Amino acid sequence: MSILVSGGAGYIGSHTVLCLLEQGFDVVVFDNLSNSYEESLRRVEKITGKKVKFYKADMCDPAAMDAIFSENPDIDSVIHFAGLKAVAVSVSEPVEYYKNNIGGTLTLIEAMRAHNVKNIIFSSSATVYGAPKELPITENSPKGVCTNPYGWTKWIIEQILTDVHTADPEWNVILLRYFNPVGAHSSGLIGEDPQGVPNNLTPYIAQVAVGRRPHLNVNGNDYNTPDGTGVRDYIHVVDLAEGHIKALEKMKTLNGEVKIYNLGTGKGSSVFDVLHAYERACGRKLPYVIAPRRPGDADACWADPTLAEKELGWKAKFNLDDMCRDSWNWQSKNPYGFAGKPD
Ligand code: NAD
Ligand code: UFG
Repeated sequence: MSILVSGGAGYIGSHTVLCLLEQGFDVVVFDNLSNSYEESLRRVEKITGKKVKFYKADMCDPAAMDAIFSENPDIDSVIHFAGLKAVAVSVSEPVEYYKNNIGGTLTLIEAMRAHNVKNIIFSSSATVYGAPKELPITENSPKGVCTNPYGWTKWIIEQILTDVHTADPEWNVILLRYFNPVGAHSSGLIGEDPQGVPNNLTPYIAQVAVGRRPHLNVNGNDYNTPDGTGVRDYIHVVDLAEGHIKALEKMKTLNGEVKIYNLGTGKGSSVFDVLHAYERACGRKLPYVIAPRRPGDADACWADPTLAEKELGWKAKFNLDDMCRDSWNWQSKNPYGFAGKPD
């Protein structure tokens, strides 16, 4: 039996493919490389000593999806990472985001249905909770109002997959709601490689540390948090990848169910906490300026991850210093990411 990984050349996907191969799973990967490089998978091959079966394919292309399942009849489950994820771009290009993320997921589901594959693990996000009404956030916290089209794509895809299960109760659906993935594999060979100006905190700090950007913009220091900066639940990408292995193991025990798990550490860290952890990792002070708040940002957001521990036997192992150490190891060895030159 093999696992189809959509978006497997990307940041979280490549770390998960690595983990799957290390644990002896047969893996088929597809990605349209719109936000990644095939080089990430070559490096996964280097680390594991195993070949990755890769298709450069777009999930919006029904023929391409059909061909992958036809050529790999042993695909039993799908881990679905493929999607566009830049929050700000989703605001200016909502149609493209809905078309790619939702339209592509529908095409993938149709191909799965045609080939009788009924197990899917979906990359959802804490963003579906909207502005948190209580902390920590449990899976029973209600889904909320998203502040951007990207968030709505996650919200809607969760609903679509739930409806697919309702229509055909043989489907097993696991919705993993990630908090804030950061860090890199300890080899420093794979890591996060955003195109253009990073949207997220840690890749931005990493580029300041490596000299590509002059300073960090701290977006708001007047939030209702201990030091005034936004608080998030940062989780090591390798812990997150392990969470997918545990979810796959859980999938084998399910009998037509929809399961939802938060993947976070349960601990909140502020922007300054992250900045200072990164300074410890790279061994020097990093410049910052206080900048305006980003519209739609919550004061604080962290997970209650106890359900994942109870039902999946999964718990995050790495702390913020580990995440920043591994991020810096990757960034310092690959200052310009996989391409090796400025984009
Ligand atoms: P990423 O951009 O590195 O990976 C996504 C991959 O999907 C990319 O390699 C991209 O080329 C591919 N892709 C996009 N559209 C495609 C299409 N139409 N067909 C085929 N491939 C396509 O992002 P990531 O951080 O690894 O995120 C993986 C998943 O997790 C995404 O669905 C993302 O929304 C979700 N997620 C990410 C975060 C985060 O902060 N990184 C948080 C919560 C959820
Ligand atoms: N921040 C800065 N400066 C920056 C970037 C971010 O101060 O240059 C601050 C933000 O204001 C926020 C914190 O750092 O307080 C974290 O911001 P990120 O953009 O790294 O992460 P978010 O929590 O805003 O969003 C991320 C993903 C979303 C996902 C969400 C939920 O980008 O896709 O986590 O887990 F939905």
